[in-house]
This record gives sequence, C-alpha cells and structure tokens, in this order.
Amino acid sequence: MVDADLSKVLADIAVYAARRRAEDAERRHAPSATYPEQVERFRIDLSQAGAAPDDVIRELIALAEPGLAAVTAPRFFGWVMGASNMTGVAADWLTSVWGQNAGNHLATPSAAAAEEASGNALLELMQLPRGSSVGFATGATMASYTCLSAARMEVLRRAGWDIEADGMAGSPPITVVLGEEAHSTIFAGLKYLGFGERNLVKVAADRNGAIIARAFAEAMARVSGPVIAIAQAGHINSGSFDPFVEIAKVAQAKGAWLHIDGAFGLWARATKTHRHLGEGIELADSWSVDGHKWLQTPYDCAYAIVKDREAHVRAMRIPASYLPGAGDGMRNPSDAVPELSRRARGFSTWAMIRRLGAAGIAEMVSRHCALARRFAQQLSAEAGVEVLNDVALNQVAVHFGSDAETRAVIAKVQSDAVCFVGGAQWRGKAIMRISVTNENTTEADVDRSVEAMLSAWRAVKGAN
Ligand SMILES: Cc1ncc(COP(=O)(O)O)c(C=O)c1O
Repeated sequence: MVDADLSKVLADIAVYAARRRAEDAERRHAPSATYPEQVERFRIDLSQAGAAPDDVIRELIALAEPGLAAVTAPRFFGWVMGASNMTGVAADWLTSVWGQNAGNHLATPSAAAAEEASGNALLELMQLPRGSSVGFATGATMASYTCLSAARMEVLRRAGWDIEADGMAGSPPITVVLGEEAHSTIFAGLKYLGFGERNLVKVAADRNGAIIARAFAEAMARVSGPVIAIAQAGHINSGSFDPFVEIAKVAQAKGAWLHIDGAFGLWARATKTHRHLGEGIELADSWSVDGHKWLQTPYDCAYAIVKDREAHVRAMRIPASYLPGAGDGMRNPSDAVPELSRRARGFSTWAMIRRLGAAGIAEMVSRHCALARRFAQQLSAEAGVEVLNDVALNQVAVHFGSDAETRAVIAKVQSDAVCFVGGAQWRGKAIMRISVTNENTTEADVDRSVEAMLSAWRAVKGAN
C-alpha cells in the first residue's frame, strides 16, 4: 500500500529540489552561516520524541540552508567541483530508494551490472585498455589509494614477496617516484599505505607544475628495486599534464608500475579538442578519475581503474564463506574497492553517461576549457593582473598585484557574491584559483564574473 503522507513528503522534496536549482543562477554563493553556528543549530535534543517525516525534512531544510555553499550554481568556480546534475541526482535518489548494497553481484545484480556497463563505457570514453578492471570509489583520493594498493602488492609480488602471506615488514623496499607537485591526496594515499617521506623521490616540475621529463628519467636511473611511478593528468592549480609518453617509456623500461592521477584531467581524453594533452595516458598500469567532478554525478563517485584485473582483485578481495567467491568468473563490485557494504554508485554514473552521451561529455569538457581561456584573456588584459599558468585545460591561476592584494581581491569577490572563487599559495605566490567544471556555466557567467573580479581588483588597488 502506498503511504499517502510519505508520497506527499517525497513530492514536496521534488518540488523543493526543482525550485532550488531554478534559483541557482542568482544564489548567494558563500554560506551565510559559519560552521560553529551550524554546529549549534544542528545540536540534537535527545529528550524530544521522534518527529513526523515532513517535520523532519522541513526542519532539516531550514537548518541546513544558511550553511550551504552554492556549489551547483553556474558562477561557482571554487575548487574543482561538478554541478551534481539533476538526472544523476534522480538516479541517486533511486539508489537510496532501492537500498541496494553494492557489495556483491548475487544479492544486487542490477547494481553490479550498472557498474560493469558504466565501467566499460568509461574505458571506451577515455580510450583506456579494454578489459581493465574498474572499481567504484568515493572519490579520487580513495581511487588512487586503491590503485596504489594494487601497485604495492604487485611490484612486491614481482620481486618475489607475498604481502598477503608475509605483510610489509621486512619486504624489499619500494621506491615511489612522483612529481613534486603531485596532488596532496596522493601523498595522503601513500601515507595510508605505509610509505614515508624517505621512500619518495620527488621529481622537479616546470612552471605549470608538470613533471620535467628529463628530471624524471634521471630520477628513475638512480633508483633500484621495486618502483611505483606516479604521474598526473590535470594539476590542481594549472590543469597541466605530465609528459606521459616519455614517463611511460622510462617506467616500462624499469619494470615500474605507473599510476596516473586524473581526478578531473582524464576527462580530456573524452574530447577531440583536448585529447592530445593526454597522449600516452593509455600506457599506464592504473588510473584514478572522479565522476563527481567533470561527469557531474552527485557526490560521491570516482573510479579506480587497473589494467591488470588480477592484481586489482588480489589487492582488494574480501573472502568470506557467505559471499560469492572468485571462482564464478564474474566481476564482483567489492573486489575492486576497499569496502564491502556500500552505495550502488553505478546507477548515477550510468545515468550521467546516458544523459550526456559521449558527444555531450566531449562538448561540455571542451566548452569549459574555452571558458577558462575566456577568463584568462579578459583578466590578463587588465593592468596589474597576471595569469600565471598556460591555460591548456579548465584551471586559471591569477595573481593581482601583490600577495596581499590577491587575497584582498578574493575576499572582496566572495563578499560581493556575484561569483565564488577560492585561493591558494602556488610557486611562491598567492593565487586566485578559477576552476570551470560546472555544466551550467555560460560565456555570460564568465563575463559577469570577470567584471566582478576586476571591480574588486580596482577597489583593492584604489584603497592602497
Ligand atoms: C588532481 C587531483 N587528484 C585528486 C583529487 C582528490 O579528489 P577527491 O576530492 O574526489 O577525493 C583532486 C581533487 O580536487 C585533484 O584535483
């Protein structure tokens, strides 16, 4: 029997959701409430009785709204974040309604099949080796962690050491060779895997933060024993790509495992316009990429892709007598990520690939890169404003006058609230970071945002 009250609550949420998204374009970007204020407001009084569903949801909306950032709004350029497309959101709602646990293919065949089909489509879209194994993780952080776990186990296995039997203590030392500007989450993943600073060889990067091929070759020539090499497609500030063809050649000659962190940059492979940036990416052993960035799936969704299916499964499998074993020859979702019970992320991925199609994904990524160039051209035409990176992808790193002035411009842009940008410290300078990854951003949004940034810059300059 359909519960009429519950249907009404769900219908009301749908109306609320559609209205909220319709108002996105003119939404204030930064939250109006601070974290401590929200902690206070969210405090639960346990002496209260349980509440009716519509009261709970109404209360949640009223409490949360002041502390929400307008991440889905078209002029939100802070960090590299997708817009949680509503088709993906609807698929995500269904994922919760269905309550599937994507732990194994026997219990939830649709959840497992959606992953398998989407995984195959991802390999095709990004032209990665067919037959690679795809795990559905929470984010690129965990996707890289997963790939690097497989790498760690496999390079040791090749050196005659079995982690499963003997653990890590006393194993042949592994050297990790990576760019000095690898993303912070790669260093975190390495820490979780038991690698310390002294196990890492950091290779010099160029002015865009990309590995210098010669420096990589020299570093690799100096190391011996099991090696994991890590490269990057899409630097967090500049969007730059490492020179994969040269890196892969050296890594292969050394017998190293090559992992590529392509949290957002890997999507360039799905375009005609920017595919060339990722030449050689297919030569790696593993790749991490997010769905919740450029594919616009809702959070959380990312993919851990490993060429050697057996190495992937060996590193991740959770054997138990009550779970399907490895013997049936079928892909089991929990063999590919370090989780058993988990969200069926294949549904929202499947929905977004179907919603956009290969052509739609390519068009969107190319358009975002063109919009990033539009930002760079307009901003750098103004005296005192410097774009520090070659804008090859979707990221723009901007410096206004001095470090102090740059920070003041960012603060003013945030408080004026026409658009949202964040800041960072990069290569010794304060920068405003502009990331174009929201599917709804238009040229008019860029122009309006540039106007706001330049007006903030003129006000800051005038005040000094
Ligand atoms: C290059 C790169 N790697 C990894 C990550 C981490 O991704 P996630 O936040 O999805 O875990 C990011 C996030 O921006 C990134 O830009």
